[in-house]
Amino acid sequence: MLNGKRVLLIVAGGIAAFKCHDLIRKLRGQGAHVRCVLTDAGARFVTPLSLQALSEDKVYTDMFSLTDESEMGHIQLSRDADLLVVAPATANILARMAAGMADDLAATVLLATDKPVLAAPAMNVRMWSHAATVANVETLKKRGITFVGPNDGAMACNEYGPGRMSEPAEIVTAIEALLTTSSALKGKRALVTSGPTREAIDPVRYISNHSSGKQGHAIASALARLGADVTLVSGPVNVADPVGVKLVKIESADQMLEACLAAGKLDVAIFAAAVADWKSAKPADAKIKKKPGAPPPALELTPNPDILATVSKPGAQRPTLVVGFAAETENLVANAIDKRTRKGCDWIVANDVSPATGTFGGERNTVHLVTADGVEEWPTLAKDEVAARLADRIAQQLGRPRAVKAAE
Ligand code: CTP
Repeated sequence: MLNGKRVLLIVAGGIAAFKCHDLIRKLRGQGAHVRCVLTDAGARFVTPLSLQALSEDKVYTDMFSLTDESEMGHIQLSRDADLLVVAPATANILARMAAGMADDLAATVLLATDKPVLAAPAMNVRMWSHAATVANVETLKKRGITFVGPNDGAMACNEYGPGRMSEPAEIVTAIEALLTTSSALKGKRALVTSGPTREAIDPVRYISNHSSGKQGHAIASALARLGADVTLVSGPVNVADPVGVKLVKIESADQMLEACLAAGKLDVAIFAAAVADWKSAKPADAKIKKKPGAPPPALELTPNPDILATVSKPGAQRPTLVVGFAAETENLVANAIDKRTRKGCDWIVANDVSPATGTFGGERNTVHLVTADGVEEWPTLAKDEVAARLADRIAQQLGRPRAVKAAE
């Protein structure tokens, strides 16, 4: 996907710098050319030699190097790139970027560039949530800098929270989103639901499921890469926000339905979310307390709205193409065919989510595409590849004049 693209990777000083090795490998595996700029602090974590060996190119570290400047000035470094990636983007380099500093080679290249810049933040959770960093990130976003991550998780400093650098595969996906746009879906409006929903039992407890949001988020990215105007309605997930997509974060199925209906007139809607089928009939306003000797409280459930079935209803507001998912653990295809009719959607992407398949939370997916014309069995693919293939099929379908479809 990145064949021939030139990425200038700026490695700043954070423990996550070690992930750059894998990032370079993955980018080169996709056919990209990677050239590295390493800051002084970055060189405390990774060596120029390792970056040079993996990128098979010279590593630039010093703004005042006579040889570097004569071979490749700082302006030329950014001119030669299709995209600049700052990974890890530490609190310090983000602050220097926001302030327009040019106090080392990395900051100078970033100030001098007119190319797209992607930043993958990595820092302690309190540094990330500090008002100074929040303001810097806001400033940089306003200037058009794209962010991937950070993710929630355990940190090197033994704390937990947002601040972990996105995984190399997520950074590669964000790079693809910035570099490989096409216009197959330009002017089309798309809605994608993703992740689980959470149904409150009381203010501290909820009902949910194992959906990671990886497949839904990948579909939103793939549609955006084809030029669609994408709204992603997502339950709580721990994957990077897709680039170039309007993200609406919700918790419950009721909120997801409301956000979907608010998306307006759509060309295509894809329902990849694992919506909880039931919610508590009477969520408690205060935490339900244990009473010594008393039996556990009974949990009365009531059905959630079926979002896919609601949006699939015939009418002027119905999207041209409605795609549902079927998460099954047995009779995959038969259940998916039945679900397509029952829900009134056009296509169903059926996936086996039995624990043995590793689909929930995993990187790969084996799907069947059920349409009015029959059932297609797709090979096992990375979730990104399933998403790209589905987006291409959607583009074909939306581009197809109705008369041609009827003649087939
Ligand atoms: N879906 C939805 N709203 C719900 C339940 C499901 O929009 N309340 C959507 C899902 O996003 C998916 C499709 O319906 O696109 C099928 O979801 P799935 O969980 O496979 O099926 P269910 O409708 O929940 O049926 P069952 O649990 O009986 O398999």
